[in-house]
Amino acid sequence: MPAIVLVGAQWGDEGKGKATDLMGSDVHYVVKFNGGNNAGHTIVIDGEKYALHLLPSGILTPTCTPVIGNGVVIDLEVLFREIDDLEARGVSTEKLVVSANAHVITPYNRTLDKVGERFLGSRKIGTTGRGIGPTYADKMSRNGIRVQDLFDPHILEQKVEAALAFKNQVLTKIYNRRAISVQEVMDELLPYAERLAPMVTDTTLLLEQALNEGRNVLLEAGQATLLDVDHGTYPYVTSSSATAGGACTGSGIPPTRVSRVIAVLKAYTTRVGEGPFPTELFDDDGEFLRKTGAEYGTTTGRPRRCGWMDVVIGRYATRINGVTDFVVTKLDVLTGLEKVPICVAYDVDGVRHDEMPVNQSDFHHAKPIYEEMDGWWEDITGVRTFEDLPANAQAYILRVEELIGARVSAIGVGPGRDAIIARHPLLD
Ligand code: GDP
Ligand code: IMO
Ligand code: MG
Repeated sequence: MPAIVLVGAQWGDEGKGKATDLMGSDVHYVVKFNGGNNAGHTIVIDGEKYALHLLPSGILTPTCTPVIGNGVVIDLEVLFREIDDLEARGVSTEKLVVSANAHVITPYNRTLDKVGERFLGSRKIGTTGRGIGPTYADKMSRNGIRVQDLFDPHILEQKVEAALAFKNQVLTKIYNRRAISVQEVMDELLPYAERLAPMVTDTTLLLEQALNEGRNVLLEAGQATLLDVDHGTYPYVTSSSATAGGACTGSGIPPTRVSRVIAVLKAYTTRVGEGPFPTELFDDDGEFLRKTGAEYGTTTGRPRRCGWMDVVIGRYATRINGVTDFVVTKLDVLTGLEKVPICVAYDVDGVRHDEMPVNQSDFHHAKPIYEEMDGWWEDITGVRTFEDLPANAQAYILRVEELIGARVSAIGVGPGRDAIIARHPLLD
């Protein structure tokens, strides 16, 4: 079987975890290919809530092998805490495999993320403070620490020493912080080596064999299209490739093996952290979306900024990712509104833009041009077929589908695992 990619279409928190979980036992491998514990996926099963950060969402399906790919950055403390928490709740994590080439988030990278943000003041990115940016920066600068380095303490020590020689200058002379010793870092990282060792393998080989054996492999993104370091609202982005292209580099699965790209699109828009957001609402409607949609970060607990659906972004996500299927989530949150606006284009200083403006400054100045759809009042959380949705809810989905340029194959109507309307199969 070919591989399937699942990405977020907006600024994250679209419900990717739930969408992955939806495919359940039909998926044999779920690979996290980018990001780290900046991600937060909440999955609700039989009323029980699971919040995952580093572990791929497939961990909740017993038949599925969860894979942490080479494109991920791992905070080992968080990884083992998450494993222990799940085991304590009766979820087996014994199938988890980890790429030997994934990078490790070190204590100095966590510190540099936090002090770096403070240093930026009003120009801050609003990062999750988990050390993500500095760890990817080290990877690109070729002085990162990889999972495999943990199994050779001598090499590890040399690499940490080389990294700290520079980082300590920055910490002490620019940020006025204390220096971090090589020993401190070794003492944090090395004790995990023994527990980690049995999980570590050449995941690219494992996944190629799985595909050759006809297994379904799902490549699951953290973050989303507009947080992608290349295609997002730079510099207000994360530091990894969260779009479909990143699925290949972050997993080692070549593009020729990918048959489908599923994008998860929230029925409205949210964003955490700083950066432009054309349809952001600062009024009661924004508060309504935040309250009704429980829009508070899974990772940092920050209130999410909320706004209406923006199909300029939806179309952009279709283009950048080659989306074949959309999963629209949280349609239930829009119930009870008189009118449901859809942003169909932007007005930038009197000029209409139907596509994402090429210049970031234009995007900062973009004013949404809305089309208003009629709302619906009926409770839709128990609806399981498209035809049973209120006519206005159907019309909303059909209009969004028409504007984003790819079919809507499933619609979320509640947080629970079964609160979903399936229109087209997500797997071949
Ligand atoms: P992710 O990061 O993309 O996996 O998304 P998050 O888990 O951060 O945020 C999505 C939130 O919406 C979670 O709390 C989910 O339980 C919830 N959710 C997902 N789909 C639906 C839906 O269709 N309706 C409602 N009401 N909640 C949903
Ligand atoms: P999931 O996978 C929403 C945002 C942060 C910040 C920016 C950079 O749950 O959708 P970082 O710590 O990555 O350097 O922060 O990216 N961000 C997310 N926003 N959902 C996420 O993940 C996010 N991961 C990072 O808020 O604006
Ligand atoms: Mg999230």
